[in-house]
Amino acid sequence: MAILVTGGAGYIGSHTVAELVDRGYEVVVLDNLRQGHRLAIHGVPLYEGDIADRELVTQVIRSHGIDTVVHFAALSLVGESVQQPLDYYEANVCKTRTLLDTLVTEKVLRIVFSSTAATYGEPVEVPIAEEHPTVPTNPYGDTKLAIERMLTSCYQAYGLSSISLRYFNAAGAHHALPIGENHLPETHLIPLVVQAALGLREQITVFGTDYDTPDGTCVRDYVHVMDLAQAHRLAVERLRHVEGAEVYNLGNGKGFTVNEVIRMVGVATGKCVPTLYGPRRAGDPAVLVASSRRAHDILGWAPQHSDLETIIKSAVTWHQSHPGGFEE
Ligand SMILES: NC(=O)c1ccc[n+]([C@@H]2O[C@H](COP(=O)([O-])OP(=O)(O)OC[C@H]3O[C@@H](n4cnc5c(N)ncnc54)[C@H](O)[C@@H]3O)[C@@H](O)[C@H]2O)c1
Repeated sequence: MAILVTGGAGYIGSHTVAELVDRGYEVVVLDNLRQGHRLAIHGVPLYEGDIADRELVTQVIRSHGIDTVVHFAALSLVGESVQQPLDYYEANVCKTRTLLDTLVTEKVLRIVFSSTAATYGEPVEVPIAEEHPTVPTNPYGDTKLAIERMLTSCYQAYGLSSISLRYFNAAGAHHALPIGENHLPETHLIPLVVQAALGLREQITVFGTDYDTPDGTCVRDYVHVMDLAQAHRLAVERLRHVEGAEVYNLGNGKGFTVNEVIRMVGVATGKCVPTLYGPRRAGDPAVLVASSRRAHDILGWAPQHSDLETIIKSAVTWHQSHPGGFEE
């Protein structure tokens, strides 16, 4: 029996592939390589193609004896989703619908799904637990919530069991393999700050300095990508003996301001980070911090790398050794 990882050549996907392989699982990757990188895949078969290609997915399932899918493949830029919502509904909701249809037809009845803190929208309570209202403030979050709901319905109708993992901010890089964060374009704070410190980009812009937070900048919860990978492996293992449609938050439960991140990157690199301060961006909540108690209690998730210093050091090491990302 083997695990199909969609989007496995992407950032979180490639780290999860490494974790699964490390634990002895047979893994196969399906990625259209629009965002992913061939060089992020080490020692497992890579099928270049689309999750909505029924023929290809069926062939992969049958030839490898797939019994579980870990589904990362998606578009995930919040701003772009506001500009091009139909592309996001097509890429995320419609294509996932087709994938699920293929899985049900082929009787592959276990899936771990990449969801997001963006399903919650503006928090009414922090830390955010899974029972918090889900009122996304952008089409990206809407599409992820729609998929979660589709998964619940698919369990009830077809017995397709799922675990949706709502990540907060993934960051950091693998401690041994040459893989790390390389989004194009990059929109995540930690790689942007590290690149600015290393002179790989001119500067960074901080959006908003008048939030009700300790230093006026936004507070976010950063979780190490290797800890996320561990959570996916635990979710795969849980689906081998439990049926249902479950949802778990994955964050480290501690918030850091943007200025704290900048300061810590400055210390880790010994460089000063060229920083511009601008006005708030529409739709950015002041504080986003997760309660991950459910993942700790039920999945047995025990993050080991998610203190901010470790995250930042691993990101700095990756960007120093790969200044052009995977292309160099
Ligand atoms: N990075 C974060 O902080 C974060 C936070 C919350 C949720 N997520 C979710 O986690 C998942 C992975 O995020 P990431 O940062 O690793 O993104 P990523 O862009 O690095 O990875 C996504 C991968 O999916 C592939 N892909 C996209 N559409 C595809 C399709 N139709 N068929 C085949 N392959 C396709 C891309 O080529 C890419 O390799 C996404 O679903 C994202 O929404 C990410």
